[in-house]
Amino acid sequence: MSEADQLWDETGNIFSSWNLQEIPFSESASSLRSNLDKVFTGRTNELKQIFNLLRGRERKRILVYGSVGIGKTAFILEVLSVLQRKSTDTLATYISLPTEKTDLATAALIALARSMPNDEWAQQQLKQMGLISELTRKTKTKFEGKIAGFGGSFEEETETVNPPQIPTLAFEDLLDRALQKYTRVVVAIDDLDKQDPDRVRQLLHNAQGMLKGDAWFILTGHPSGLTRDLLISERGLFDLALEIKELDQPTTYQMLINYLSSARITETDKDPENPDTVHPFTLETAKQLCQRSEGIPRWFNRIAHYVLLKAAELNAEKITPEVFLAGLEYVSQELRGQSELSPEDYYVLDLILERGLLSDTSATMNDLKRMRVQEFSQLLPIIDKLVQHDLVRRLPTDKSTEYRANPILLPPSKE
Ligand SMILES: Nc1ncnc2c1ncn2[C@@H]1O[C@H](COP(=O)(O)OP(=O)(O)O)[C@@H](O)[C@H]1O
Ligand SMILES: [Mg+2]
Repeated sequence: MSEADQLWDETGNIFSSWNLQEIPFSESASSLRSNLDKVFTGRTNELKQIFNLLRGRERKRILVYGSVGIGKTAFILEVLSVLQRKSTDTLATYISLPTEKTDLATAALIALARSMPNDEWAQQQLKQMGLISELTRKTKTKFEGKIAGFGGSFEEETETVNPPQIPTLAFEDLLDRALQKYTRVVVAIDDLDKQDPDRVRQLLHNAQGMLKGDAWFILTGHPSGLTRDLLISERGLFDLALEIKELDQPTTYQMLINYLSSARITETDKDPENPDTVHPFTLETAKQLCQRSEGIPRWFNRIAHYVLLKAAELNAEKITPEVFLAGLEYVSQELRGQSELSPEDYYVLDLILERGLLSDTSATMNDLKRMRVQEFSQLLPIIDKLVQHDLVRRLPTDKSTEYRANPILLPPSKE
């Protein structure tokens, strides 16, 4: 056995002593796929609201909004997966809106065509757009997703998409074909929350016709002023706007139990009082993890993931408060060291760290000068990037937008 082989076994040993097959935590909902059903926690009221609507026959448009990492994608995927199981006369489709130039009608057309692998006309549409047909894609990726189009890796293909001349009409035609087989078609277009608000407004405006047609739509957005504006200005565009908020502590704790239980070698019971359910966390560090996550599932996943990695590196039998702290430091390091960040991004991040809070009213002329900009608004693209990377959080205030550094970030450790 080589040294590396031995190392591999040793890392396996620590995981099996934790009664874990693997690290179950993941930063994106689409990479969880089939595991999502096992780990999905909470959101009872939100699910109820959306299910009530879905009990009706009249098609609706639903906006799911909330900050980055709060769980919009997970929520939508969970809703679609329930629909898929429970409502056999519904065709549920999903697509992540690609960043490049694609309009909503084209995105919807792709989502729908992908979920109709046996419809020649649909597959023809995909081909014409330069995308591979669903049948080829399935055999190629051996993708056995329950819901066609789910987790589709659209990004890789965006460069080659040739949108049809009139995507809205192509979509309508395909929708008609779908509605011959199904009583309801649901099209979820995700990740509008990652787009620039002005672009989203434009996209929605251009897609009014399609959105008011015969399909159900679920779209995502982020909770800036935009969402409110949309609801007011585009009156009647959405029948339900569902805000996804931070989870409370008991739900976060339950979420920890669910994630761990999804990777157990031998099952443990799910009694929250029983220390086995959170092992290798102790009851104390399990609570600390939930507190540090502030109810934001992506932070929770990130912290838990790195804390486990650190604990494995330290060969720790249990995650004691000391191990947990070492894990937090590791998270902080990893967050700061993200390779996509430019020096300008770090200037802004350091300014926010220095101030604690930053907003257009609290930034001084001097600050702006230091950042080499004239107006606060010029910093917004950078701040947005920091938000996307979990370094900064947009605070939900009504008057202005305030930004705060992610409290997980510790001051850089002294060399
Ligand atoms: N209710 C939930 N239960 C379990 N895991 C969740 C839940 N909500 C979100 N997550 C997980 O947290 C991470 C971030 O969630 P995601 O849905 O990608 O956030 P958003 O789309 O709002 O940016 C993902 O790994 C996701 O699976
Ligand atoms: Mg998302």
